[in-house]
Amino acid sequence: MLERDLVIPCTVVGLLQLREQMPTILVTGGSGFIGSHTCISLLSCGYDVIIFDNHSNSKVFPSLEVASFLSINNPDRIKIIHGDICKPDDIEHVFLASEKIDAVIHFAGLKSIPESFKNPSKYWSTNVAGTINILNCMAKYSCENIIFSSSATIYGGGQGKQISESDLINPTSPYGWTKFISEKIIHDQHKAAKESANSCDETSKTINAIILRYFNPVGAIKNGIIGESPLLSATNLFPTIMKVINGEDSQLNIFGNDWPTIDGTGVRDYIHVMDLAEGHVAAINYLLATPNCFIELNLGTGVGYSVLQVINTFEQIVGHVIPHTFHARRDGDVASCVADSSLARKILKWKAKRELSEMCFDSWNYWSKYLGSNL
Ligand code: WQD
Repeated sequence: MLERDLVIPCTVVGLLQLREQMPTILVTGGSGFIGSHTCISLLSCGYDVIIFDNHSNSKVFPSLEVASFLSINNPDRIKIIHGDICKPDDIEHVFLASEKIDAVIHFAGLKSIPESFKNPSKYWSTNVAGTINILNCMAKYSCENIIFSSSATIYGGGQGKQISESDLINPTSPYGWTKFISEKIIHDQHKAAKESANSCDETSKTINAIILRYFNPVGAIKNGIIGESPLLSATNLFPTIMKVINGEDSQLNIFGNDWPTIDGTGVRDYIHVMDLAEGHVAAINYLLATPNCFIELNLGTGVGYSVLQVINTFEQIVGHVIPHTFHARRDGDVASCVADSSLARKILKWKAKRELSEMCFDSWNYWSKYLGSNL
């Protein structure tokens, strides 16, 4: 019996009987937090998955547990290839080793806003040059479909109102800029291919793309077999709170309590990682069925919560106070960042459905299993 997380309205479920025609999706960064949850959703909707990851910030994807959890008899539907998006030969090896790749979901990259200020060139070379390497290999092997993992941080904050895809782009960190420039490169590639196709010039290959701009992904799959367990030090709020809950840190540092928000602390649109994973399956379904596609979509809940509201929710779950102190604002932070996801609802027929309490509980459930400590 698949748990609730996996009872996904998959429009491809009907294709399960046509296994030999099931599309294969290359998931770069597929061992990571969002990537691994997306792979579980893709598998449960009948897609085959190739995971390409350098495992610099993630354990190897727990493929055996996932295959048994999905009660799939042929775990060969998951392939894991270790490699780096900064090495074109590594990417080419994946395409040469694969019978077919129908689409790429490109998650691989660096994602810490604070770290991007300390080491901007590493972010530019990994996130932007890595994306170019992926696109070049896709063109060489005529793979025409890509979903790009972008971020709400390209908007530079919403001044308290919901942010839509047509709002001002104004990244406030090198990380945000690398995401926006990568989007632009993909769009230029799409436009060039479209123009050359119109002029019957075959020089540049078609690229159909959906750009997904995530707000704040958090939580874990209900049974806790995978979750957010960064190997590198986490700077995000949820893993940092988990470190305080399990006693690794003595208190949470709250960056700023003088923001123009409900209680002075930063407001964000936290979205359950399984809702995000289901959003990717909905996007793949749409992309594979829509020729000549280029769209940018926000994936969020449309509801913002402050840091103090998140802390309060966790305290109700763990049954004790989470010590915290207030500090100066963090570089690159904004007061509020909340999504208008109506376009994703309209085009992908997708909507986030899990509440903040479920996000916090599922995070805590994963960490209590993962850490094996008495949280
Ligand atoms: C959330 C709030 C902090 C840590 C996210 C992702 C980033 C990218 C963009 C995907 C803010 C506050 C945090 C702490 C705190 N996502 N905070 N103490 O900054 O919105 O960035 O979106 O591409 O990967 O991180 O998320 O979780 O770091 O911060 O007070 O120790 O929590 O100031 O208001 P952010 P976050």
